[in-house]
Amino acid sequence: MHEIEWHDSHSVGVPSIDEQHKRLMALTNRLFLAIMDEAGETVLEGVLNDLADYAVYHFTHEEELLRTHGYPEDLLTEHRAEHKALTDEVHRYIARYREDPANLDLSVYVFLRDWTTEHMSRSDSRYSEFLIAHHAE
Ligand SMILES: [Fe+2]
Repeated sequence: MHEIEWHDSHSVGVPSIDEQHKRLMALTNRLFLAIMDEAGETVLEGVLNDLADYAVYHFTHEEELLRTHGYPEDLLTEHRAEHKALTDEVHRYIARYREDPANLDLSVYVFLRDWTTEHMSRSDSRYSEFLIAHHAE
């Protein structure tokens, strides 16, 4: 298993979102390395919290950008639901970790890696053309 890598195919054509996706991937990789290194509890909890906070920040930005540019309400609602599902799952991982740090293994990384890449290439690519046409930055 190795870290996630950014590829140009991940780009949604909107600079602010691409930058945030890269940062989200970097945080996911940081979690991967912390688990691999068997980092201490303070480090692991810090990385998990940073990731959860950044995901919320990024999703809010993305949803706000879509709303501002008049993305169709039904598609936005669907997209929001996906973001919420991810946020809830990350908080569940954090809760399980707090119950017992031994609960945290690479499955959290696999989940985040797959979710991020799948969400970017499927759901986010759906709004890509729309935002590019609206000159979103
Ligand atoms: Fe998204």
